[in-house]
Amino acid sequence: MIKWKDEYKIGIAEIDEQHKKIFDIANEAYELLKDEFSYDKYDRIIELLEELKNYAKFHFSYEEDYMLSIKYKGYFSQKVAHDNFVEKINSYDLNDIDENQDQYILEILDFVVDWISKHILVSDKQIPAQ
Ligand SMILES: [Fe+2]
Repeated sequence: MIKWKDEYKIGIAEIDEQHKKIFDIANEAYELLKDEFSYDKYDRIIELLEELKNYAKFHFSYEEDYMLSIKYKGYFSQKVAHDNFVEKINSYDLNDIDENQDQYILEILDFVVDWISKHILVSDKQIPAQ
């Protein structure tokens, strides 16, 4: 279980709410991994990946619009990190996912947790509220 804490707030209410939703998605991956009773998790993995990708795209464009609106100088490195994130999700091979289901859930989880700890808690924290 990955718990949201107030200290993760960057001080921009809308973005903080969106970050909470990313924690929710990480927890969905965690729940799916823990589920020992389903033999075939493929459909749920694909659903989770779609949810993650769609939400990430929505959130990134919101954040990018905000950064542009305040002429934030860190915009370009953020944009590159965001694009890499979406590209990484798009690069997953569906057949490979089917054959190594739990390994992929773990990888997705790892990837999101890494993103939370490195991107949200470090880079996003530097975006000034206005
Ligand atoms: Fe963010």
